[in-house]
Amino acid sequence: MEMKGLILSGGEGTRLRPITHTSAKQLVPVANKPILFYGIEAIRDAGITDIGIIVGDTEEEIREAVGDGSAWGIRVTYVRQEQPLGLAHAVLTAEEFLGDSPFVMYLGDNLIKEGISSLVDQFQAMQPDAMILLAHVSQPERFGVAELDGERVVRLIEKPSEPPSDLALVGVYMFKPCIFDACHAIEPSWRNELEITDALQHMIDHGCHVEPHLIDGWWKDTGHLEDLLEANRIILESLEPSCLGEVDKESSVTGRVVIEKGAEIINSTVRGPAIIGERTKLVNSFVGPFTSVYYDVLIQNSEVEHSIVMEKCVIRGLRGRMEDSLLGKNVEIYRSPQRPRAYRLMLGDNSRIGLA
Ligand code: DAU
Repeated sequence: MEMKGLILSGGEGTRLRPITHTSAKQLVPVANKPILFYGIEAIRDAGITDIGIIVGDTEEEIREAVGDGSAWGIRVTYVRQEQPLGLAHAVLTAEEFLGDSPFVMYLGDNLIKEGISSLVDQFQAMQPDAMILLAHVSQPERFGVAELDGERVVRLIEKPSEPPSDLALVGVYMFKPCIFDACHAIEPSWRNELEITDALQHMIDHGCHVEPHLIDGWWKDTGHLEDLLEANRIILESLEPSCLGEVDKESSVTGRVVIEKGAEIINSTVRGPAIIGERTKLVNSFVGPFTSVYYDVLIQNSEVEHSIVMEKCVIRGLRGRMEDSLLGKNVEIYRSPQRPRAYRLMLGDNSRIGLA
């Protein structure tokens, strides 16, 4: 039977506040491409074209970005989850869409470099009831954690304070429809969510075959700023340099740099790996390694490095270099001639500013 895909793009991005207060965290761009698109492409490349996307409060924004899926040659069905009550709750919400098809579930804020084609093939060949992906991590307490006995999964625990191993559950799972029974059977956890981890444990306890697969390529859950910047670094390093914009004679562009259509580099230096988005303008500025500048941005008389700058930002006259930063849409940073000299800020709730 044809497999379906289910991408989870609802929920609240508490850890990336304030960026995700009003916007979907799955749409934050990594190397100028929304994280969510990497997941869509991974599923499409595995030959799956019937894809459901779980959406919540940010439904409109996600619909606008993804549309009907025809840009990727897939068919997208949006499934509204009224509240983010857990990953297993999301599965139940999509029960009607999924029907009796086996499916791959992909968490919309996860990035897996190698894609998932070989994993989907393996699932189809082996036909277990579920297949989970595991990766060694340095802070297992931040994830669902697996305890193995040889090749067999014996226990799965969500964000344990004392992790039994360093094997984290990666945000990609493959299921046969028997997952629904497990999701119906479990109770909400301490964080009041129906956990997919508990549903999997329920399957194990009832004699289902849950196949673990250790992945060796890199994988990122982009819930935290540091992880997002790391994913950005890794992807930027794999881009093919190109220039569809304009670079004037006074500017220098070195290393792995992508300059997108309509971008203008004026009397500036760009040192890769970096990407400069469509219609973005750099004037008398420096953009250093590991920086992604999205579209319609102006950077003038400033230096930016190791950062993600989202669309329509304006950065003018910074005295120090901006580093390790994430700027949301439409953010403006400028030096004001006004006296007395002072910081004049208009910041959203939970903003973070690190001054030199
Ligand atoms: O990233 C891997 C981890 O993902 C696993 O190790 C954990 O076992 C698993 O529970 C999950 O943990 P998180 O706490 O990081 O999940 P988060 O709440 O960030 O949600 C993951 C994605 O699913 C995110 O794109 C939002 C979406 N989501 C989440 C919930 C709770 C929904 O669409 N609906 C929901 O109800």
